[in-house]
Amino acid sequence: MNNFPIEQLRADFPILAETIRNKPLVYLDNAASCQKPNAVIDAISHLYRHDYANIHRGVHTLSVRSTDQFEAAREKVRAFINAASNKEIIFVRGATEAINLVAQTYGKAAIQAGDEIIITAMEHHSNIVPWQLLCEQTGAVLKIAPMNQQGELLYAEFEALLTDKTRLLAVVHMSNALGTINPVEKMIAAAHAKAIPVLLDGAQAIPHMPVDVQALDCDFYVFSGHKLYGPSGIGVLYGKQALLEAMPPYQGGGDMIRTVTFERSTYAGLPYKFEAGTPAIAEVIGLGAAIDYLNAIGMSAIADYEATLLTYATEQAKQIKGLTIIGEAAEKGAILSFVLERIHPHDIGTMLDSLGIAIRAGHHCAMPVMDFYQVPATARASFAMYNTHAEIDVLMAGIKGLITAFG
Ligand code: ALA
Repeated sequence: MNNFPIEQLRADFPILAETIRNKPLVYLDNAASCQKPNAVIDAISHLYRHDYANIHRGVHTLSVRSTDQFEAAREKVRAFINAASNKEIIFVRGATEAINLVAQTYGKAAIQAGDEIIITAMEHHSNIVPWQLLCEQTGAVLKIAPMNQQGELLYAEFEALLTDKTRLLAVVHMSNALGTINPVEKMIAAAHAKAIPVLLDGAQAIPHMPVDVQALDCDFYVFSGHKLYGPSGIGVLYGKQALLEAMPPYQGGGDMIRTVTFERSTYAGLPYKFEAGTPAIAEVIGLGAAIDYLNAIGMSAIADYEATLLTYATEQAKQIKGLTIIGEAAEKGAILSFVLERIHPHDIGTMLDSLGIAIRAGHHCAMPVMDFYQVPATARASFAMYNTHAEIDVLMAGIKGLITAFG
């Protein structure tokens, strides 16, 4: 990967030049949220300085400028995931809101008492709790497809769960806690063979690999902007047009209506039917800028480069006595979750912070995964396209120093 433009790319992220406790920042908490390039920061700043007004409402110049940029960003998202139509791109607050939207609209309309929804043992809370709420509301049953100690889906057990009662499969594309990349093409084909629709939680996958929703043939795909080098508070629900057309609205308010009287209201067409109220205008435009930036680098090049980071980090970690990697799936994205003998992950996180290294220590919003491995928490180094092999050396030296210090 000698031709990956790492130095140039790092220079595009101003925060990477920060020092933390007099040490160069080593930012390895990208699964929680990624840092932002100048392209995103500047797009938002430019909007507020020159072009900002509310969208879809005004005939004045600023409203037209903001509306044009907002809708251009929708087209950028559509092209980025290769959706068939802009009508299939719904802006929401994040992956979490997208899943709640599907649960409370599609789910409430299509799922009844005794029906089954399948998720996997490696989901994070966003793809568990909305379905639990729906099950409480409808009397449906949540089924959990199990995984093995490596953190890989047990495929035969998963397939056996697909029955005449199954109404939806909701599965994480790439696990935020383990890094596992699920065999989603195969899972979707198996579900579709039984006419079961599939939602993919792509919050963790989308910054790390090319995603083509038509090739995947998923029915819903959700992700957050802030893990894709864009702003927080914005995310995307992709849904196949026919499904979205049939779904009732999620929230009522301005922009999602066609007509309103006190007796009844009629609703706007897609995608606006699901976008009540003034949206996150600057955040959508910032997300569009992030996508332009990523396209210029290329998602395949990013995936290849990050694979070298993961391989290197895994090799180094395996040489450290007392370190256990949590999650060793054969198909894995650039996440290294680990525990150390006798040192709590929170102490690992705090001690590494004193060296300028940012990792996440905790349950990673995936408590059932922690229960499965019988650990209260893990330390997690999660890599992004701007991380370097030298930063992995700093991390490993920090871990070794920690082990020595704790005796
Ligand atoms: N779910 C996010 C994480 O993995 C916040 O840290």
